[in-house]
Amino acid sequence: MKALVLSGGKGTRLRPLTFTCAKQLIPVANKPILGYVLDQVTSASIKTAGIITAPETGQHVKDYVDDGSNWNLKVKYIPQEPLGLAHAVKTAKRFLGQDSFVMCLGDNVTGQGLNPFVKKFKNEKLDALIILKEVEKPSAFGIAQLDKEGNITRLVEKPKTPMGNLAIIGTYLFSNKVHQAIEQIKPSWRGELEITDAIQEMINMGFSVKAELLDSWWLDTGKKDDILTANARILDEYIQLDVKGTLTCSIVDGRVKVEPSAKIINSTIRGPCVIGKNVVIENSFVGPYTSIGDNSYIVNSNVEYSVIQDNVTVKDIERLEDSLVGKNAKVTRNQRNRTTKVNMGDYSEIEV
Ligand code: DAU
Repeated sequence: MKALVLSGGKGTRLRPLTFTCAKQLIPVANKPILGYVLDQVTSASIKTAGIITAPETGQHVKDYVDDGSNWNLKVKYIPQEPLGLAHAVKTAKRFLGQDSFVMCLGDNVTGQGLNPFVKKFKNEKLDALIILKEVEKPSAFGIAQLDKEGNITRLVEKPKTPMGNLAIIGTYLFSNKVHQAIEQIKPSWRGELEITDAIQEMINMGFSVKAELLDSWWLDTGKKDDILTANARILDEYIQLDVKGTLTCSIVDGRVKVEPSAKIINSTIRGPCVIGKNVVIENSFVGPYTSIGDNSYIVNSNVEYSVIQDNVTVKDIERLEDSLVGKNAKVTRNQRNRTTKVNMGDYSEIEV
C-alpha cells in the first residue's frame, strides 16, 4: 500500500501566513502539521509516499520533508495546480499505478492512527473506506448520509442544506477503482474535481465503499482558530515536563518543554507549553497552551493560548492571547502615546 499526502492547495483562509509558507507547514507544538501526518503514515508501515505540492509553496514542502528519511519513507514529489482533491489523485495516477493507497490531507490531524482503517480496508477487500466524524458546521465539509445499518446512502460536498452532521475527515483509503470513478466526474460549482463526488460515483458504479466513525479527535487546520485548537490539543497530548534550557529566578509549572539553549529569566512558564531553541523569555508570563518557536524573544509580556513562530519579538505587551504570529514578526508597544502603528502584510488581521 502507498500513501498520497496532499500538501498543495492555495491556503487562502490562512493568509497572510500562506503567502510565504505552505499551510501544511504551519507549526503546532513547534512541529509542522505535515510532520504529524507523515508520522501516522510511517506508523501504518507504509514505505512509499507521493506528496502533492502546489507551484508557490512546493519548494518549502521539499525543504522540510527532503528525501523522507526522517520518516523512513521513500518520497516522490508530485506538482499539481490546485484543482481539487480528485484532481490531485488524477495527477498522481502514474505514481499510484495499480496499488491501493491511503490518501491523507496534509493539514488534518487526528488522535487515532491509520492501522485499524488499513486493517478493515484489507480484510473486507474494500474499494473505498472513508472516515467520518460528527461536526457542528456540516456546510463546511463533505457530508455523508448513512442508513440504519451504517451503509452510505449519499455523499455531498459542503451542502448548503446539510442532510446530517457526519463529516468526511481528511483520511481516505482507495483501491485502484477510484481512477475509473474520477474519469466520470465533472468539476463542481467551485471549479474543483471533488473527491466526495468521486466516492459517490464509486457507489453508483457498484464498488464496495464503506464508512467508519473516528473514535478520537480530528482537526482540520484550515483557519487561525483551528491552528490554536490543534496546538492546544497536541500540547495536551504529547508534552511532558522536560526542561533542558536555563532557568534564572523563574518558575516552570506543569508540563513544559524547554529546548536546550533557551533562557528563561525572571519569568513564569505554565504548561502545557513548549519553548523552542535559543528562545529568551524575560520578565514575562508564558502559557498555558502556548508554543514559542526557535530564536524568539519575549520580554515584559504575557502570552497565552498562542502560537508564536520562529524569530519573533514580543516586547512590552500586557496580554497577547489567542494569537498566531508568523516568522520574523515583531509585536511591540508604543510607549510614548496611545497611537497604534502597524506594518502589516496583505490579509493580516489585528485586533487592538
Ligand atoms: O478537511 C476535510 C475536508 O477536506 C472534507 O470534509 C471535504 O470533503 C474535502 O473536500 C476537503 O475540504 P477542504 O475545503 O477543507 O479542502 P482544502 O481545499 O482545504 O484542501 C485539503 C488539503 O488538500 C489541503 O492540505 C490542501 C490540499 N489540496 C487541496 C486542493 C484543492 C491539494 O493538495 N490540492 C488541491 O487541488
